[in-house]
Amino acid sequence: MASPSEQTTCETMNSEKYADINWDELGFNPIPTDYMFVIKCSKGENFLQGNLTRFGNIELSPSAAILNNGQGILEGLKAYRREDNRITLFRPEQNAMRMKMGAERMCMPSPSTEQFVDAVKQTVLANKRWVPPPGKGSLYVRPLLMGSGSAMGVVPAPEYTFLIYTFPVGNYFKGDTAMNVIVEEKLCRAIPGGPGGVKTITNYAPVLQAVTQAKTKGFSDVLFLDAKTGKNIEELSSCNIFIVKGNVISTPATLGTILPGVTRKSIIEVALDFGYQVEERVIPVEDLMDADEVFCTGTAVVVNAVGSITYQGKRVEYKTGVESVAQKLYATLTGIQTGRIDDKMGWTVQVD
Ligand code: COI
Repeated sequence: MASPSEQTTCETMNSEKYADINWDELGFNPIPTDYMFVIKCSKGENFLQGNLTRFGNIELSPSAAILNNGQGILEGLKAYRREDNRITLFRPEQNAMRMKMGAERMCMPSPSTEQFVDAVKQTVLANKRWVPPPGKGSLYVRPLLMGSGSAMGVVPAPEYTFLIYTFPVGNYFKGDTAMNVIVEEKLCRAIPGGPGGVKTITNYAPVLQAVTQAKTKGFSDVLFLDAKTGKNIEELSSCNIFIVKGNVISTPATLGTILPGVTRKSIIEVALDFGYQVEERVIPVEDLMDADEVFCTGTAVVVNAVGSITYQGKRVEYKTGVESVAQKLYATLTGIQTGRIDDKMGWTVQVD
C-alpha cells in the first residue's frame, strides 16, 4: 500500500496532465513510470488484495524459481488517450485469459480475469500522466506472473508474484517502415508439445541469437519455420504473420507452437468484417513466394507491413503503402483502439 506521503505525491503527480518527456521521441524502451501493482500468493492459494507501490527494483532470492527455472509468464497490452482525454484499454480480458492458460501450462496460480483487469486499470490510472497525447503513442502495460519463491530443484515455486508495470511507447520497429525479414533455417522458436503457444518468458531469450544475427545483416527480424519439418511458416520473434493473396488473408493456425495473439485475433475479425476470406491453416514457406502482401501483428508492433522476405538467398518483395490491405486493417484497428472509429465490437474498456 502506498504510504501517506506517497499518496500525496501520487495525487500531485496525477494532477499534472503529462509527464515531462519528449512525446515525439518514443520508441519501445522501458521508460520508468510512477507506480507498479504487486500482489503475492502462496502455492495452492489464490491471489487476494494487491497494492500499488512506487515503481522500482524488486527483491528476489537468488534461488527464486523465475531466475532458476524460468517459471514466469508475461503479458502485453496498451492504454490509449482519446481526444476527449478519456483513457481506454483494448480487450484486456483477452490478456487475462491468455495469462491463465499460460499459468496452467507453467504450473502457476493466476489472477482471475476480474482481478487482472482491475489491477491493469489501477496501474494505468496511477500512471495516467505517462499515457501519451493522442497520436503520439500509447502506454504499454506489462503484467508479469512469476515464481518468486525459492525452487532449486525442478519443482513449482512455493510463492508467486503478479506484478504490473507500464511505460509509454511509440513504434516497436524504428522508423515505422516496412520490415525486411529473413527466414531462419537453422534455429527454432517452438517445438510440438512445448510452450510456444503460451506467453512464457522462456520463449523470448532463445530467439535472440537468430534476431541478432539477422540484424547484423541488415534485416529487421526473422521468420521461424516449424521445428518438425522446417517447411511451414510460424511466427517472428515477437509477432504473428499474415499473408495476402487476392481476397484471401491467411495466417498460421494456432496448433500449439504459435502464440494466439490478441492483435492476431482482432485483425482476423476486422478482415472478416471487411469481407476478406480468412484462413487459419498450415502455410508452406513457398506460399510466401507468390503472396501479394505480408504483414505482422502484435500488441507491440500493432500491424506492420513486411516489404521483403529472404528465403534460401532469394528476396521476394511485397506491396506496401496506403493502398495496401495491411494499411487498411491497421487504420481500422488503431481507429477502434484510439476511439476515432466507432467500437461496434465492444473491444475497448474505459479505465477512468
Ligand atoms: C507484445 O507484442 O506485446 C509482446 O509481448 C512481444 C514482445 C514485445 C515481447
